[in-house]
Amino acid sequence: MMKSLASDFRKLSKPSQVDWRKIVWVFILLACAGATVGQHPARKNTNPRQRISINEGWSFYKYPTATDADNLIYDVRPVVTDRNDDKAADSRPTEAAAIDARQEVLKPWILPTANAFINDPQRHYIRPQGNPGETFPFVQPGFDDGAWEKITLPHDWAVKGPFMTGANPEVGGGMGRLPSQGVGWYRRKIEIPLSDSGKSIFLDIDGVMSYAMVWLNGKLVGGWPYGYNSWRLNLTPYVIPGGINQLAIRVDNPNYSARWYPGAGIYRNVWLTKTQPVHIAQWGTYVTTSSVSKESAVISLETIIDNERRSTEEVSVNTSIYTIDDKGVRSSKAAAHFPILVTRVESGKISKVNSTVLLQRPRLWGPLPSQFPNRYAAVTTLTVKGKIVDEYETRFGIRSLEFNADKGLFVNGEHIQLKGVNQHHDLGALGAAFNFRAAQRQLEILREMGCNAIRMSHNPPAPELLELTDRMGFLVFDEIFDSWERKKTPHDFHLLFPEWHEADTRSFIRRDRNSPSVIIWGLGNEVGEQYTGEEGAAVAKKLYRIIKEEDPTRPITSAMNFAKPDMALPGVLDIISLNYQGEGIRQAAEFEGTDRIRTPPQYDAFHLKFPDKLILSSETASAFSSRDIYLFPVSQEQSAPVRDGRGGDSKNHQVTSYELHAVDFGSSADKVFASMDQHPFVAGEFVWTGWDHLGEPTPYYDARSSYCGIIDLAGFRKDRFYLYQSHWRPDFPMAHILPHWNWPERSGEVTPVHVFTSGDEAELFLNGKSLGRKKKRSYEYRLRWDSVKYEPGVLKVVAFKGGKAWASDEVHTTKAFTRISMTADRPVIQADGTDLAFISVMLEDVDGRVVPRTNDSLEFSISGPGEIVATDNGDPTDMTSFASGTRQAFNGRCLVIVRTVKSRPGAITVTAKSARSKSVQITLQSK
Ligand code: GAL
Repeated sequence: MMKSLASDFRKLSKPSQVDWRKIVWVFILLACAGATVGQHPARKNTNPRQRISINEGWSFYKYPTATDADNLIYDVRPVVTDRNDDKAADSRPTEAAAIDARQEVLKPWILPTANAFINDPQRHYIRPQGNPGETFPFVQPGFDDGAWEKITLPHDWAVKGPFMTGANPEVGGGMGRLPSQGVGWYRRKIEIPLSDSGKSIFLDIDGVMSYAMVWLNGKLVGGWPYGYNSWRLNLTPYVIPGGINQLAIRVDNPNYSARWYPGAGIYRNVWLTKTQPVHIAQWGTYVTTSSVSKESAVISLETIIDNERRSTEEVSVNTSIYTIDDKGVRSSKAAAHFPILVTRVESGKISKVNSTVLLQRPRLWGPLPSQFPNRYAAVTTLTVKGKIVDEYETRFGIRSLEFNADKGLFVNGEHIQLKGVNQHHDLGALGAAFNFRAAQRQLEILREMGCNAIRMSHNPPAPELLELTDRMGFLVFDEIFDSWERKKTPHDFHLLFPEWHEADTRSFIRRDRNSPSVIIWGLGNEVGEQYTGEEGAAVAKKLYRIIKEEDPTRPITSAMNFAKPDMALPGVLDIISLNYQGEGIRQAAEFEGTDRIRTPPQYDAFHLKFPDKLILSSETASAFSSRDIYLFPVSQEQSAPVRDGRGGDSKNHQVTSYELHAVDFGSSADKVFASMDQHPFVAGEFVWTGWDHLGEPTPYYDARSSYCGIIDLAGFRKDRFYLYQSHWRPDFPMAHILPHWNWPERSGEVTPVHVFTSGDEAELFLNGKSLGRKKKRSYEYRLRWDSVKYEPGVLKVVAFKGGKAWASDEVHTTKAFTRISMTADRPVIQADGTDLAFISVMLEDVDGRVVPRTNDSLEFSISGPGEIVATDNGDPTDMTSFASGTRQAFNGRCLVIVRTVKSRPGAITVTAKSARSKSVQITLQSK
């Protein structure tokens, strides 16, 4: 057994990737799954590596206006003269305005942070002499920041508002009308004990929005401008062991930088990593799997070792593989061992080593519900002169992917239709500040709908979100940019592209390439380079090559809403991802003569031109609705633009929930289902969007948040949720009636009733009287009773599948609102200072039915070890601060978000009051 595995191994190893001169084989230890030999040596030792959260204990200051700010700028920015300067990707970087003589441009000191991700050493940035900012008070260790706000990270300085209301606000509806613009400072003391002398000490930042620049003990260390990437600074040369060290971070978040709400500040987690000088580099392991079957899989591992010692070191690299259970806990016994390698690493250099192992009977990672997201951990120890100097865990999954141009996506041999959604990075009322539980709740509700895939539109997510998608078995389309050289807004990434595109792209891939959920890399979204032929394609090729160098195992794409099969861009890509073009854009006669994009359906044309490339829709729908708002008359069209009297209400800024309307260039959900079913070679869709997001409130930019979500900003399901569920979970018995049935002013008037069901037929009853039984025809996804005349009472639907009763639903005309009811998503939460309870608050009648069209104001209070961090109701037009403890219900519902207090367990009671009802309480346990 041992012999045959060893010879297998020899066949599988890739000598070309290994620097054999540096490697001495000590012994080859191969074992099959479940082997008991060779217990990992590191299990008996303490890890010399420490990863310490430094989210707590920060002081924060924000200048009241951008003009009050200090002059320590990263670089000058173009002055925005035209407030409507947001035409899609129209030009190259604008000439920046002349430097104001008082301003100090720090860019030359910041650029060297990119060096670790620039492959050609000739192109590395050299740090100039000097220490800009050294005399500035905020960076001084002795500066008294006692009057600054005390905060805990992740922090979004803008989310509490106030919302900027009225016409022409400084920050417009596109960016969420929240004060994200301007300059803020964060300060924190870090204690570095004397025992850390000689260690390497790093600051690891998961994301800062944006243009972060960091000083330690008054010395400028470096920074990172793009707000979505994770990055590291080596603090070692600046640290004073045996004392308090002062960190100061300047954040400069420009207005006009995004087409959505960007958030503001240090909005993700921050860590201090301490290692021995010989250690595994940042994201220094890369696991790939090949020849995957139920019987075995080949696991290849690249390890990058960094030597910050003065001497060359001989390092032995020893990696074992463990299983991880569904709670994330590692097994005690190894499933396999890589051969131990020894490599010499010169002082100040890195060394890469590669090895391969054959794992028998692997537990495969695959998407739920048909597969299971099994994961493994590769635990690598580095040993120098017999002493363990580092232990590093890499989580990964084993799966095979096939991107078949005629049949779509196969995961582990099983055909998987992409039932995906796009998600922006904000978490509704919590803003951009990352919270694990809030992200998990978003995914849980999407899962209930039958969603199996997420497109991270249009930027790298928080790393913990990928931990969740890995763990929960979602497929991920991981995307980095919304713009390249050509701008969409005056201050977006195009300003950074020339100097940062390589570093941002490489760091993005290195961070995320071990995630099994990531199956596709997205280079960009609807970039302006689609319009510029070969010149634009050349930019795509440059980014494409960078990604292939970092990860040749996944296909690369770029979402196209304009490029056609005969244009230059699609030819560069591995797979074709279309935004809206598959269904056709602005095809209705009313759009004839428009100067906007107008395109007939494109799936067949792309398939013909690229018979070997898989096609998917990276954005579909962009359908609109406001939860539980119904407007009359109801359109007879299947997919219609929003106009007054046609699904829209420009006075109240609301869109009907009959779920028939979309953005002018989009399509209703039903229309997309039909076009998918008619083009089985298309691998599936990513709906724009799963949840509503902050900003981009098309079609009404007077609002604060979007209308395109299937789920509203607070997490309440719109009717569309059930339309997707009916189609995406055909085996789940369900039926859903719309609208609600409280229309006293419509007595005798035609009030259409639509039903979404996973059945194929249904009969509708009004007050016990049948209104007829209807059957879905081909390419029909809803049942419509369009001539129902309103009379109060009970609407009931009974759905059938294959002739048998399948599911039913009822809607009642309710009585008046008399009582409040509250339910929490989880009754027990953790007393860790970050866990959240999401409490849904319903305005009900005496029979316990939610009363529609009820918008009473509610007042919330809390007792016990918890805090109300935000309230919301999902109404895109509500300009009450998310931090307010008073909130109007929106159509009978609102939401309270409660956070626990760290290390203070106990009962938390939330009380809700309104003028028209008794007050009500709910009690949670914080443990
Ligand atoms: C797309 C774009 C998305 C979003 C969407 C709104 O064109 O890629 O980011 O703007 O439209 O409908």
